[in-house]
Amino acid sequence: MTPPANWMNDPNGLIKIDDTFHLFYQHNPTANRWGNLHWGHASSTDLLRWDHHPIALAPDDHGQAFSGTVVADDTGSAGFGAGALVAVFTQDLDGFQRQSLASSTDGGMTWQMFSGNPVLDAPEGVHDFRDPKVLRYESEQGSWWVMVLAVGAEIWIYRSEDLRSWQQCSAFAVPTQGEGSILEVPELVRLPVEGTGESIWVLLVSIIPPGGARRLAGRTRWIAVDFDGERLTAHDADRGSTFDAGCDFYAPMVWDGGPCDPTICVGWMNEWGFVGPDRDTEWCGRMSMPRRLTLVRSRGQLRLRQPPVVDAPNDPAWRGATLMNSPDLRGLVDNRCFAIWVRCDLDDATGVVEIEFAPEDADAESKIIRIDAEGLRLGQDGECICAEQEEQDGSWIREVLVIVDAGSIEVFVDDGLGAASEICGLGFGATAVSLHLAGSASVAAASVFVPSPNGSFTEPAS
Ligand code: FRU
Repeated sequence: MTPPANWMNDPNGLIKIDDTFHLFYQHNPTANRWGNLHWGHASSTDLLRWDHHPIALAPDDHGQAFSGTVVADDTGSAGFGAGALVAVFTQDLDGFQRQSLASSTDGGMTWQMFSGNPVLDAPEGVHDFRDPKVLRYESEQGSWWVMVLAVGAEIWIYRSEDLRSWQQCSAFAVPTQGEGSILEVPELVRLPVEGTGESIWVLLVSIIPPGGARRLAGRTRWIAVDFDGERLTAHDADRGSTFDAGCDFYAPMVWDGGPCDPTICVGWMNEWGFVGPDRDTEWCGRMSMPRRLTLVRSRGQLRLRQPPVVDAPNDPAWRGATLMNSPDLRGLVDNRCFAIWVRCDLDDATGVVEIEFAPEDADAESKIIRIDAEGLRLGQDGECICAEQEEQDGSWIREVLVIVDAGSIEVFVDDGLGAASEICGLGFGATAVSLHLAGSASVAAASVFVPSPNGSFTEPAS
């Protein structure tokens, strides 16, 4: 999902209405760079093909429209009518941030700013006060609206009966990557633990590291928490884990599936200053492949699973071919979107598998994914994924699914137990894919998939 033109960053206000997923997003409709922030709007029934809609929110006297949430106000508690959609979002005026409301009574197609904005101002002297995640908390003690807000290096929790008047209940210091970090775009959601009837609250945060925003691996973290509608408590001494180990994944938000449907997450693939190949297109910024979120308990540890919603190896809408030609297994993909699936066996600590992507276009850059006993690394500076797993139970990575789409690369390990996403210089043309094995490594199966009917795949003459 990319905007029709110009700049995009965070996903905002994710909400499913009937069978349609609505995705609002940070959007500058007049330039290919950050600033002048509006909410763009798109919708989809399959999370792959998107319809674009008119802009939802525009800046006004209270400031630009920064990130936030959309909730369905079934009872009309906020005074905009029963069933109205209410957007709760940050407005930024010259670096001063406050929370505002807008309402829609036509399913999110048109929006009216609330005349009483802002509904929540920052306390004196507080600058970073943004990105409200609003949800309905239900318990035996009653139900109320909760706002989860990023305030500097802390998460503040507020509660409200009517979305207009908010009382602060608590502050939670997230164990981040060091002094001077700033948190952004908190997400709080209950996720099921696979194979049990249990579900656990999980807090997702995106982090500006000390020293300021820059392109860095693993800028998103998740942490299991207890939540009583007013207060967050971390499990044990849990410092949280990397959500996505790549350099270009940020601000993940979810369509909360509740107890019945899967919870699906999408993140912004880019960084404010780094635009990669998108500089040559009309648009700049893209969403990740949507992912289904669950938790897995293994050896007393909780792990997050996030397989992509596209299951290329098993989906009849994708056409597959085996990667062949020993001793190197290789093939040429003539499509800007394709998937690679590899089942490997490292056998012992000497095993190395490398997946190499070499674009035919001389101006494009090649890319190597390396899998060894330590885990999987995407490029030189990449954080290693699944390193923790190797330490814990001594099992090696078995399966790798790579989705390439117009210069973005998303890697999923062992059915989503690890993920890494990056924008890279692969370009939009044909790409030779080869597998190199070293040490004890062997490959049980390796395939390439292209979406039918357009994609094509050939084995190059050796
Ligand atoms: C995260 C972020 C948010 C803010 C928005 C502004 O990428 O900086 O904190 O609301 O983007 O575009």
